[in-house]
Amino acid sequence: MSTALITGASGGIGKAFAQELAARKTNLVLVARSSEKLHQLATQLQEQYKIQVEVIVKDLTEPKATDGVFDAIKAKGLTIDLLINNAGFGDYGDFAKGDGERQLKIIQLNILALVDLTHKFLPLMRQRRTGSIINLSSITGFQPMPYLSVYAASKAFVLSFSEALWAENRDYGVRVMVVCPGPTETSFFTEAKFPQTLAEKNNKLSTPEEVVRDALQALEKGDSTVVSGGLGNKLIVNLHRFLPRESLVSVIAKKFKS
Ligand SMILES: NC(=O)c1ccc[n+]([C@@H]2O[C@H](COP(=O)([O-])OP(=O)(O)OC[C@H]3O[C@@H](n4cnc5c(N)ncnc54)[C@H](OP(=O)(O)O)[C@@H]3O)[C@@H](O)[C@H]2O)c1
Repeated sequence: MSTALITGASGGIGKAFAQELAARKTNLVLVARSSEKLHQLATQLQEQYKIQVEVIVKDLTEPKATDGVFDAIKAKGLTIDLLINNAGFGDYGDFAKGDGERQLKIIQLNILALVDLTHKFLPLMRQRRTGSIINLSSITGFQPMPYLSVYAASKAFVLSFSEALWAENRDYGVRVMVVCPGPTETSFFTEAKFPQTLAEKNNKLSTPEEVVRDALQALEKGDSTVVSGGLGNKLIVNLHRFLPRESLVSVIAKKFKS
């Protein structure tokens, strides 16, 4: 039986990954801050699917948190076959007026924790010549996003980093893939403090289950990148090819200014 490590598994897309992989008889290591939610999910999945589920309660924005995750997995004698770097958050608003510490935490979680966990587990996968890594980017990673500036830039990093690793690792039997969902029905918008009026404009939300289905299908095919959701999302990520960058960013700024 293989084992998947999922960060941000207490809700949203991460929880949907846990449920789908459990149904496919994959043992799980669940990481997030919410101990109660993680333990409840672990108990439910263990009973329903007769798999092993470990919980690691960690704030991945804390210094050395990724060392803690790696050490805990080593201490349990587990081998990670699939790493899903899913934990992430955004912060809506004018960067100059925003909470600077919160912007740095976005970088800490969405970029630094993801890079460090990848760097810890990838060499072990390469030694075994098998394993997969799924990183969560976003359709916001394809162009700058005024009023979500640090978040979108963090997702651009994840997109670029993951596609580079896809190419570096394909000859070593390790698949690295990046998932770029569009707006999805999770706590993301509440966490990012999106104004209600803007959140309501997103009437075409995907479900976390749809994102997970697209991701796992693309992983099986060996794709480097999957833009999840309908045709609308696929059009959005290509707009920068047809519009001058300044025009595109100005349109987005108008749309996102509350
Ligand atoms: N929803 C969307 O529209 C959308 C679109 C594109 C991409 N994405 C990306 O998809 C990923 C999952 O987001 P989601 O939509 O499922 O949002 P969500 O429902 O808010 O889930 C975020 C997960 O990350 C965990 N998390 C947050 N801060 C953490 C920290 N400091 N340390 C450890 N875990 C932390 C949360 O758990 P705890 O609070 O328990 O720690 C939760 O399990 C993110 O990378 C997000 O950027 C989302």
